[in-house]
Amino acid sequence: MNPVRNALRLAAMYAIAAATSAHALSAHAGGHAYRLDNAAYRQECGSCHVAFPPKLLAAPSWRAVMEGLDIHFGDDATLEPAVQREIAAWLEANAGRRDTSANGKPMLRITATPWFRKEHRREIEAGVQRRPEVKSFANCGACHTGADRGDYSERGIRVPGGGPR
Ligand code: HEC
Ligand code: HEC
Repeated sequence: MNPVRNALRLAAMYAIAAATSAHALSAHAGGHAYRLDNAAYRQECGSCHVAFPPKLLAAPSWRAVMEGLDIHFGDDATLEPAVQREIAAWLEANAGRRDTSANGKPMLRITATPWFRKEHRREIEAGVQRRPEVKSFANCGACHTGADRGDYSERGIRVPGGGPR
């Protein structure tokens, strides 16, 4: 075969392979790595717990969380009004599409949503949250070592004391 044509063919094959694996990578990242690209959010909402991925609650849930910061799960998480507005707008713009309401009221907890409970069914049944290193399922970083970066990929999961499986 003509060497130039052969080289071209090979180059085309590599281009297709690269495009396919790039697509696979982005699909994978899309499923497990969440964007946390808002400095105010990371700073103000990532000090007591990890900055939770906005995708894991629907917009009405984030609105309800942000309207109740003075009585935030037993804490006062009040913000300057301008900062609060910025964070609330960003959360709602990046919220998930999956409905996170129960009986017509927005849920405030990711950990109470059916999606979360299904995804963590084995750990919930095993009572893993009672282990002292975990304490609460809201403590995502206890098991997801990349949680502070929004990375919840399988390879970063280490359940303290071992998984229930
Ligand atoms: C002063 C500390 C503090 C700050 C600041 C704070 N939180 Fe929280 N947050 C808590 C506590 C405590 C809980 C309950 C944790 C638990 O149940 O283990 C909580 C829980 C949550 C939950 C529910 C977690 C679950 O169970 O799924 C959400 C959502 C949340 N916070 C959002 C925010 C947002 C948004 C901000 C920023 C505006 C913020 N938090 C700032 C203390 C704080
Ligand atoms: C007690 C340990 C533990 C805690 C705490 C925990 N997770 Fe998980 N999470 C797991 C395990 C284990 C899996 C894998 C589930 C399975 O395959 O059975 C998982 C799966 C996931 C997945 C799917 C990952 C994938 O690759 O499919 C996401 C997203 C996730 N968790 C988010 C969270 C968030 C957000 C929090 C905090 C609000 C949290 N998790 C708290 C242990 C935990």
